[in-house]
Amino acid sequence: MYRLGILGSGKGSNMVAIAAACASGRFPMEIAIVLSDVEESGILARARELKLPARYIAPGKFRTKLDEAAEKAYIAALRQAGVDLVVLAGFMRILKGEFLCAFPQRVVNLHPALLPSFPGLEAWKQALDYGVKVTGCTVHVVDQGVDTGPILAQQTVPVLDDDTPEVLHARIQEVERALYPATIAALAEGRLRVEGRRAFLVAERGD
Ligand code: GAR
Repeated sequence: MYRLGILGSGKGSNMVAIAAACASGRFPMEIAIVLSDVEESGILARARELKLPARYIAPGKFRTKLDEAAEKAYIAALRQAGVDLVVLAGFMRILKGEFLCAFPQRVVNLHPALLPSFPGLEAWKQALDYGVKVTGCTVHVVDQGVDTGPILAQQTVPVLDDDTPEVLHARIQEVERALYPATIAALAEGRLRVEGRRAFLVAERGD
């Protein structure tokens, strides 16, 4: 079984979608642990409802990243849970250096825009304000930059004339909840290969 460690700060709708894909029994993957930097987050509440191991780990003194002690605690918890893949699902802190070295090429993120357009915060709002007619979501490997790692999967979403940020975000999130579990399942089954910046779906199961 391919073991997932999920990190999130928010509602947890993507974690719930991934849990449903695991529970379907169609894929060789399971959620080993859910971690959050927000004690009262929806993601921890949803994980506990689903009887998944779930822990709050305090992020430390910084606002946008983990401090050194917190980074060590996250790495230790993920290692202890024996995770094969770290899945960021609305985790609102930047992970760099030591964390990425602990899980090389093994951290993936979901971004609510078509990267490399609109990296960073509130990407759906950035897209709406810019005036694009099409946006979407991206699953990518996390590297040292912000939203810059190799792209594993993308899906488009139309921007409609009467969209508000909330309505557009909800339309993107509906697509995210299908794309993220499907992409993680492809990794779990060895159907997704990454060579340099480019990712390929392969028909046969790989090692
Ligand atoms: C998702 O829309 C995801 O794309 C976004 O946070 C949301 C989490 O929702 N991630 C980012 O903006 C990362 N920069 P959820 O907690 O309901 O899964």
